Amino acid sequence: LDRPRLAELLAQVDVFTPEEQAVALELADHRLSHPGSDDYRFILTFAEAAPPAPSPLAGYLCYGRTPFTRSTHDLYWLATSPSYLRSGVARALVAAMEREIAGSGGGLVRVETGSREGHGGAVRFYDATGFEREARIAGFYAPDDDLILFTKRVSAAGARP
Ligand SMILES: CC(C)(COP(=O)(O)OP(=O)(O)OC[C@H]1O[C@@H](n2cnc3c(N)ncnc32)[C@H](O)[C@@H]1OP(=O)(O)O)[C@@H](O)C(=O)NCCC(=O)NCCS
Repeated sequence: LDRPRLAELLAQVDVFTPEEQAVALELADHRLSHPGSDDYRFILTFAEAAPPAPSPLAGYLCYGRTPFTRSTHDLYWLATSPSYLRSGVARALVAAMEREIAGSGGGLVRVETGSREGHGGAVRFYDATGFEREARIAGFYAPDDDLILFTKRVSAAGARP
């Protein structure tokens, strides 16, 4: 987990407020200070770079087991660097998360996002990657910004779909 490059990426994502960036980094700090804990798992994608240039961080995903559930996971954070948007980075990150969940017996994934246009295509991304719109709470984030709750079921590895 490369905290400096994660902080750099978060600062580039316009839709994240400074408070949201701080919370995203808190999860990274929790992970770094509790290496044995599975609460917040991170998957990072680095882009190719000609050496000796450092590989830029193209995107990252943070998810974890939802407490008090048998096999539900929360997708807490997902972001692609503005330089790599629409090149399949987030799709590959979600697929990597799903492989991990499948490998640990499968389960439900829950993700919440806002309906406001500024949410950077998140709603269209989840619609396009097999998530179901499970619930909507009008005016949740702001009078014109609803909460949309998406879910996706991930089968156990080797299970029939
Ligand atoms: C949402 C986000 C993670 C998508 O990342 P991405 O790497 O660009 O997504 P992908 O390239 O994997 O897109 C997969 C598919 O999702 C859909 N999609 C993604 N972004 C879209 C957009 N802005 N508009 C319409 N459809 C979109 C498309 O169907 C796309 O497939 P295609 O490019 O072949 O048409 C990115 O826009 C982002 O970081 N936004 C800001 C942060 C955010 O809102 N995060 C999610 C909530 S925590």
